[in-house]
Amino acid sequence: MIIAIDGPAGSGKSTVAKLVAKRLNYRYIDTGAMYRAVAWTAQKKGLDLTDESVMTKIALSLNIEFVPGAEGQSVLVEGENVTTLLKNETVGRGAATVAAQKFVREVLVARQRQIGETGNVVMDGRDIGTVVFPQADKKFFFVADAEERGRRRYEELKSKNPGLDLKTIIEEIRQRDHEDRNRKISPLVKADDALEVDTTRLSIEEVTDHIFKNINNL
Ligand code: C5P
Repeated sequence: MIIAIDGPAGSGKSTVAKLVAKRLNYRYIDTGAMYRAVAWTAQKKGLDLTDESVMTKIALSLNIEFVPGAEGQSVLVEGENVTTLLKNETVGRGAATVAAQKFVREVLVARQRQIGETGNVVMDGRDIGTVVFPQADKKFFFVADAEERGRRRYEELKSKNPGLDLKTIIEEIRQRDHEDRNRKISPLVKADDALEVDTTRLSIEEVTDHIFKNINNL
């Protein structure tokens, strides 16, 4: 069984996907973390993120692992726990840059399919229901107002970034969405058969319940 959850940044995908996976005892795969891992590695090395051949080499060789951890799940890159390091918006913007590149996507999508083939996963991202697993058993597309999405991201990041500014975060999120929706390859778009869930005024529990009701209706 494959459950696909797509949507823009801050729409609640990863929080809810993690909870759904936990309750079903499925694996949770955060595909955004894979694009972030490539961007973070390139940024750390001072490389040009628009150089597709270099980014593809990184995507091909990087060891990215998802392991159970304190945050529900940790992301290891070359054995280093980078879960928190990957979360900042500089890495997010970098991820959007590398995610627009054809060969980087081919490499990471192949990896995502390989993981999915092992069965019983909840996978979140931008193109899971449209490209990675068009045959997913259940597809959801989360949306929420940009202000609310920015506020959530702000709440999530502020403890580790005291100087954070809400307006800047909202603007960054808007810009990243614009890039994701308008790129040529695998743009962020709802699959025709995905159920849209507007999470703006819903709590995490309400969204999770909604998902479960729908899964049970299979
Ligand atoms: O979901 P997250 O914010 O971690 O994703 C970071 C970026 O990675 C997104 O803005 C998007 O550009 C890219 N991404 C993607 N396809 C996915 C997951 C993420 O293009 N399946």
